[in-house]
Amino acid sequence: MNIAIILGTRPEIIKMSPIIRELVNCGDNYFVIHTGQHYSHNMDRVFFEQLKIPNAKYNLEIGSGSHGEQTSKMLVGIEKVLLNEKPDAVLVQGDTNTVLAGALAASKLRIKTGHVEAGLRCYDRQMPEEINRVLTDHCSDYLFAPTEKAKALLLTEGISREMIYLTGNTVVDAVYQNLELARDNADILNKLNLKPKEYFLLTTHRQENVDNASNFCSILKGLNELASVYKLPICYPIHPRSRKMMAEFKLNSGNIRLMDPLDYFDFLQLEDKAKLIFTDSGGVQEESCVLNVPCITLRDNTERPETLEVGANILAGAISSKILECANVMLRKTNGWHNPFGDGHAGEKIIAILKGA
Ligand code: UD1
Ligand code: UDP
Repeated sequence: MNIAIILGTRPEIIKMSPIIRELVNCGDNYFVIHTGQHYSHNMDRVFFEQLKIPNAKYNLEIGSGSHGEQTSKMLVGIEKVLLNEKPDAVLVQGDTNTVLAGALAASKLRIKTGHVEAGLRCYDRQMPEEINRVLTDHCSDYLFAPTEKAKALLLTEGISREMIYLTGNTVVDAVYQNLELARDNADILNKLNLKPKEYFLLTTHRQENVDNASNFCSILKGLNELASVYKLPICYPIHPRSRKMMAEFKLNSGNIRLMDPLDYFDFLQLEDKAKLIFTDSGGVQEESCVLNVPCITLRDNTERPETLEVGANILAGAISSKILECANVMLRKTNGWHNPFGDGHAGEKIIAILKGA
């Protein structure tokens, strides 16, 4: 069996790494198509190097662009490769434009298509990711649901039970496989002069937050108020989209410490030792839950409701006053919730299911 892995962005490289590791360990035939949606060294290459992922066989070098432009170029490029390579199955992971293009190209060629992290919904079509998730789920043949909730949701949308597999989320595999390495090899707290549990961590990059001046400004204001109340530093490894929009809107980050995007070991360390994490990232909501660090999500909704249910996460939206309010709530809580995203063997399960079919 020959499996094509399609990926293109930072979170896909990280969350596909346990699947690729499993394929390598088993000596299976596979190849990687990288769309090049992310291309800056610190959003792309660094993860291949650190996670020891073999180079992609194809890099389509699509780069940035409007949704239509980016997705259509990917569709054309991926189709060509698939026609040439004729893999038995294709795997995509998550909800980016790369994922939609990969699933659409493969399913139209009637190549068995597997969606890793299927069945997530926030029911907000303002988010491009929601459209990508729904469409990818509905054209895939294998739906690898991370949780019971995701599986139930797919059933309510009429997807046949035989196509849905409960596997857990590969984010847990990636955290478990790399946390010790991160603890041994990363020295980021010393480098940044931070003490464990005496700083806050921020990431925000969602289009509906950072491409909207008033939302972005309100998030920065809320976090600056928090810093002055708690007298603790806030670290913000800033996504290139957010860096660009901050400059375009001429926003001032105040006392927030901006830094370039970090490699995975450094970032895992910063998450693990943070007092609280503020984010609009999907992967960071999951990782904070797995690492037992309270999370405040800078959105009005989440497609990861399990994090809210176990008490690991709370929604503050982009409202400055709510950011401080939610931080106070989360700081009063006792941690120690159960991790709802699986046992860290999702990658092995996914490959076993594909090979057994
Ligand atoms: C994309 C995904 C988002 C995901 C995020 C992960 C879509 C619709 N969005 O958002 O779901 O959470 O990746 O990080 O697929 N840029 C660089 N270097 C890069 C990549 C991007 O400078 O390597 C800059 C460019 O100015 C670009 C902007 O970031 O225009 C946005 O990049 P894009 O890939 O369109 O979306 P993301 O915001 O990265
Ligand atoms: N991440 C990283 N360095 C950073 C910020 C995030 O390695 O500076 C990792 C993080 O550990 C997580 C993933 O990137 O695994 C999340 O990616 P992102 O927030 O870009 O995308 P999303 O999960 O929202 O799609």
